[in-house]
Amino acid sequence: MGFISEILAFLFGSTLPDRAAKNAYLIDDLYNSVMLLSVIGFFGLMAVMVFFVIRYHRSQNDKSAYIPHNAFAETLWTVIPTLIFIGIAVWGIWAFYERENTPDDAMVVKVTGKQWLWEYTYEKDGKQFSTLNTMYLPVNKPVVLDMTSTDVIHSFYVPSFRTKRDTVPGMRTSYTITPTMKGDFKIFCAEYCGTKHSEMRGIVRVVSEERYNKWLDRQIKEANITDPVELGARLFSRKGCTTCHSVSGDRIIGPPLNGFVGTDREFADGSTAVANAEYIRESILKPNAKVVKGYPARMNSFAGQLSEKEIDYIIDYLKTLK
Ligand code: CUA
Repeated sequence: MGFISEILAFLFGSTLPDRAAKNAYLIDDLYNSVMLLSVIGFFGLMAVMVFFVIRYHRSQNDKSAYIPHNAFAETLWTVIPTLIFIGIAVWGIWAFYERENTPDDAMVVKVTGKQWLWEYTYEKDGKQFSTLNTMYLPVNKPVVLDMTSTDVIHSFYVPSFRTKRDTVPGMRTSYTITPTMKGDFKIFCAEYCGTKHSEMRGIVRVVSEERYNKWLDRQIKEANITDPVELGARLFSRKGCTTCHSVSGDRIIGPPLNGFVGTDREFADGSTAVANAEYIRESILKPNAKVVKGYPARMNSFAGQLSEKEIDYIIDYLKTLK
């Protein structure tokens, strides 16, 4: 079957995206076979028509024979197409259920559609983490996408997997796939869901099982860090603090931030204050309230970008710097 499948895909599938999952073969084999039958039917019909036009042209037979009906021919042209159509229907129903077939060892990824992004939640050994828009999957492993939506109806569609399923608020839908090809495959939202519907896209990145496991372990580990100092250090670099503040004593744009907690600060307006937690919090939320002497007032407020907890983590981190 694989050989015939490839020939048909070569003949009719050139305009379709890569077949990157088992599902894709179920759908394409059916589509390509119906296409083949249609092509045979079309050319067969045209050939017979042309033959009749020539063979029974008026110049050859002035008067046609009188044939009221032919039971044998009529039975043939009824029974053969009927069998073909029943065959296509049975094949279609089989492929539909086969596509839904979920192996017991399938891994589960939760997919949540939101205006206007896709969120994926992975779980391993009772620990969870979520990621946005790029979904990692291991190649050749069956996966069940357990899907829902938080606002309106979206539709999770990966053309290379040939399956599309709505995500519905208050309802769980699922989508079983076994990726068979490594690479990046586009995800679209295929249900109009508001002004940024067309931007609700993502990527499925199918990688080797080894790479997937490394990625998953790293993500789980990162998502489950509880040490406030480490969380603070991460925020400090992720929020871009390191662009202006060194922690080595070097001057970049703003003052270096190692070893200043608890010391006296001198400000541009001549006042001084002890650099305590209160002062650091103020400097993050209202950077121009107290500008350190000798430095430009160039920092923008981080109000609304950091939670109270996150500010605490950053303070805890800064305290550790010597
Ligand atoms: Cu979500 Cu369209």
